[in-house]
Amino acid sequence: MTQDEMKRAVAQAAIEYVPSGTIVGVGTGSTANYFIDELAKIKGKIDGTVASSIASAERLKGHGIEVMELNTAGRLSVYVDGADESTRHLHLIKGGGGALTREKIVAAASDKFVCIADESKLVDRLGKFPLPVEVIPMARSLVARAIVKLGGEPVLREGFTTDNGNIILDIHNMDIIDPVDLEAKLNDIAGVVTNGLFARRPADVLLLGTPNGVNVLE
Ligand code: A5P
Repeated sequence: MTQDEMKRAVAQAAIEYVPSGTIVGVGTGSTANYFIDELAKIKGKIDGTVASSIASAERLKGHGIEVMELNTAGRLSVYVDGADESTRHLHLIKGGGGALTREKIVAAASDKFVCIADESKLVDRLGKFPLPVEVIPMARSLVARAIVKLGGEPVLREGFTTDNGNIILDIHNMDIIDPVDLEAKLNDIAGVVTNGLFARRPADVLLLGTPNGVNVLE
């Protein structure tokens, strides 16, 4: 089974977690795109969606799926999204696509967070994938110096602006021993909008694609 086939398999499995007659939170990235394509097949059964990025909103609309503002949608039944890394505790690094802030907001507004990923994303310890941090542009140097003090190597994502008009610093070479603590410490730096650790609010379920089928971790 190829990586794309594993992504499609977990996207199909995630449909089982979508309750009829509810509003669904939809993530961003190549795995989430497979989920959007699967959601299109049952679009008559849901009341609408809230997207975590402009790109996902466009894909949803392209399928004729209603996309709502979070402020009008209220509480969401489930949030389905990919990840860049996950531990067996379902602590995640997200934001490889730069959508981390809206992803964290939509996850926080959802009763259940179902993470979908192929097996390459499962790690023993987070941090091999550079940890994205969304930063207000004027605070770039201030935040970068604070990240160095925490032991990381911040690298500006060149030529990239988030959907919120901000920049991304990717933290390299950070061995993340306590993701809950680091998530809070990074968010405490003035100028940080949010960071890509999803540890204080981890996923509730991880659907992991393997060559032998979909494994469910919870
Ligand atoms: C988007 O900002 C990210 O959080 C994605 O969820 C993450 O990068 C996973 O993307 P893929 O499914 O494309 O690997």
